[in-house]
Amino acid sequence: MNFYFAPMESITMYPLRNIHKDMFSGSVSKYYSPFVTAVKSKHFKNREKNDLLPVHNKPFFEEQDSSLVVQIMSGNSETFLWAAKEIAQLGYKELNLNLGCPASTVVNRHKGAGLLADPDYLDSMLSDIFEAKENTPELKDIDISLKTRLGITDESESARLMEIYAKYPITELTVHARVKDDFYKNAPRLDAFCNSIKRYRECGGKAPICYNGNIFSKKDYENTLSFMEKEGVADEVSSMMLGRGILENPALARELTGGETLSATELKDYLTSLYAGYEEYIPEDRNVIFKLLEHWAFIHTHFENCDKYLKAIRKARSKGEYLAAVRNIFASCNFI
Ligand SMILES: Cc1cc2nc3c(=O)[nH]c(=O)nc-3n(C[C@H](O)[C@H](O)[C@H](O)COP(=O)(O)O)c2cc1C
Repeated sequence: MNFYFAPMESITMYPLRNIHKDMFSGSVSKYYSPFVTAVKSKHFKNREKNDLLPVHNKPFFEEQDSSLVVQIMSGNSETFLWAAKEIAQLGYKELNLNLGCPASTVVNRHKGAGLLADPDYLDSMLSDIFEAKENTPELKDIDISLKTRLGITDESESARLMEIYAKYPITELTVHARVKDDFYKNAPRLDAFCNSIKRYRECGGKAPICYNGNIFSKKDYENTLSFMEKEGVADEVSSMMLGRGILENPALARELTGGETLSATELKDYLTSLYAGYEEYIPEDRNVIFKLLEHWAFIHTHFENCDKYLKAIRKARSKGEYLAAVRNIFASCNFI
C-alpha cells in the first residue's frame, strides 16, 4: 500500500511538505499541494505561485522526484488547461482536479464538489480536457488524476460519476468516501466506496485507486482494509491518502508500514523545524504562531491532561512565549 499526504488548504504548503519529506522520508509516496484556483482572469495568487516555485520545493526538484502533485480547482476546461500549462512549465508531472471541496463559496461557483451536481457538464469538461491534452505538446506527458467525493447528497450518485471517470485516461482516481453534504463529518461510507470501485472497474476504468477518509491509526487502517477485503476490492486499492491523521501524527505513514511510532523528541524537532520554516516566509511572530496553532489543533492529542499548557501555547504572542510554552508542555505532560 502507498500512502499519500492529502492536500489541505493553507496547511500543506511548502514548509510542511519539505520538512515532512526530510524527517519522514520514504513513508509517503506522494504529497499534494493545496488547490490552486484557475480563474478566468488567468493569474495565480502570489501565495499560490510562491508555493509552487521550484526554488521553494527543492527536496522534490533536486532529486528529480515527481512525488509532488499539484491540485487545481477549476470549473471549466479552459481555465484548467491554462493552469495546467503554467504548472507543467514549472516542471510538475502530475496535476489533480479537485472534485471534492464542499465549501459553499466553491460549490456555488460550480467548482470542487459543485461539479458533481451536473454529471453531463463534468463529462463534457473532462472530454475537452483530455482531447486538448493530446493536442498540447506541454501537456502530452503530464498525468491528470482526479480526487472526488461520492456525490453531493446521496452516495448513489457515484454510479454515474464512476461511469464518467471510466471514460478518460486519468492516471489515478482518489475517492474521498463521503458525499459533499457530509463535509468532514460522519464515518466514511465504506460500503459506497467499495460499490463505486466495482462500478468504475465494470465500466472499464483502469486507473489505480486511492482511498481517502478517516485513517488516524493503524487500527483504522486495518479495519478499512479488512472491510475492503470482505467486499473483494482490497486488491483494487493501491494507495491511501492521509489527511487529518497525518497532521495529528506526522509518523502515521511510517507506522502503517510497520515502522516505529512517533517519539516525543521527533515531534519536538518537527515543530521546531516548522517554526523555522514558517518564519522564513511569514512576517511577525504572531502570524507564525497562528500558523503553528493550525498544527496544534491536531497535535494536541499526543498530550494527556494538558489544558493549562495548551492554553499557554494558544495565548503566546511572541516567539519567546511560544517556545517556552512548547518546552513546558513537553516537559510536563504525558506524551501518548
Ligand atoms: C483544513 C482542510 C483543508 C483541506 N483542503 C483541501 C484541498 O485543498 N484540496 C482537497 O482536495 N481536499 C482538501 N481537504 C480534504 C482532505 O484532502 C481530505 O480529503 C479530507 O480531510 C478527508 O481525509 P481525512 O479523513 O484523512 O482527513 C481539506 C481538509 C481539511 C481538513
